[in-house]
Amino acid sequence: MSRTRLLNPGPVTLTGRVRNALTREDLCHREREFAELQLDVRGRIERIYEGAADGYVAVMLTGSGTSAVEAMVGSLVPKTGRALVVANGVYGDRMAQMLAAQGKTFDVIASDWLADIDLAAVEARLASDATITHVLSVHHETTTGRLNSIAALGALCKKYDRAFLLDGVSSFGGEDIRFAEWNLEAVAATANKCVHGVPGISFVVVKKSVFAARASGATSVYLDLWRHWKEQQNGWSPFTQSVHVVYALQEALAEMESLGGWRARHAEYARRAALVRATLKELGVSYFLADGERASSSILTAFAVPAHVAYDTLHDRLKERGFVIYAGQGPYLGRMFRIAVMGDLTETDLAELCAGLREILAH
Ligand SMILES: Cc1ncc(COP(=O)(O)O)c(C=O)c1O
Repeated sequence: MSRTRLLNPGPVTLTGRVRNALTREDLCHREREFAELQLDVRGRIERIYEGAADGYVAVMLTGSGTSAVEAMVGSLVPKTGRALVVANGVYGDRMAQMLAAQGKTFDVIASDWLADIDLAAVEARLASDATITHVLSVHHETTTGRLNSIAALGALCKKYDRAFLLDGVSSFGGEDIRFAEWNLEAVAATANKCVHGVPGISFVVVKKSVFAARASGATSVYLDLWRHWKEQQNGWSPFTQSVHVVYALQEALAEMESLGGWRARHAEYARRAALVRATLKELGVSYFLADGERASSSILTAFAVPAHVAYDTLHDRLKERGFVIYAGQGPYLGRMFRIAVMGDLTETDLAELCAGLREILAH
């Protein structure tokens, strides 16, 4: 049987180089070699975007993307602050759930999940309410594949001088992120999506000056960014890190650098997505979003399940051919299917995928 090719939005199909890194020697996280490894990996993360290289630091956590988002929200929104969540999908709603669980004061500007974030409502709110200290949103809302208008939201944060906390879990390494221009205080991300690492390590890229300016207000012991940052500056970690996953992340980051960094990755995703979109268009399959062609990320596209083939049939028949696609969440279950193009996908993989789609979806 051919190898499994993951077209879900992470974890991704690993390259041999990244997979092999998992078998490097066992290492205690309290030894100097681990400190060197962690310093190297953090530096590589900080250098992915030119705008983060000065002024921002990466803090690594053993946990999935949600742990990075929760550490960011829990550590950086002070108990005395007021957050504004700008949401249009599962992951925006999740940030609001975190604030509620942490007992913080917040409001939500929610849009329909099929629409972009509501910039006019955000501007009206920021212009009239000086008590809002932090704006929170999701860069790539994986629920629908929409790349939100984050540059415009960031410009509003800059204009009204409010700290911006971004969930970049499904975009970091594959889409542009402007740290200073968007007034970013932090971005949360993970190893196993656009960075092409193994699940188990996530990270928050935080404005350095924040750590110096105030004490930790974290509502969690484990997810306290101050605690991690304090030790990680010298390579250490307050808790056990997933050592082998860090080896794999180092390799994934080195591989990404050698292939041309985030810009080359973005271009490659765009090329792959264009191929999948053209094939599905030919087969009469529509985007799920009305403005899907323009609004979808390079990373993932959501399509409408066609009337003549049920989602489960499409999923199972593609799986027989070695491809794993992703269902719609919540209200879109059975009506939407999603195809992500991250990870190690060759020309042969893409050709086989398109051939499989043609066979299964033919009328
Ligand atoms: C935008 C976004 N945020 C957060 C998460 C949560 O990440 P994890 O499932 O790794 O906890 C995801 C997962 O797909 C995501 O796409």
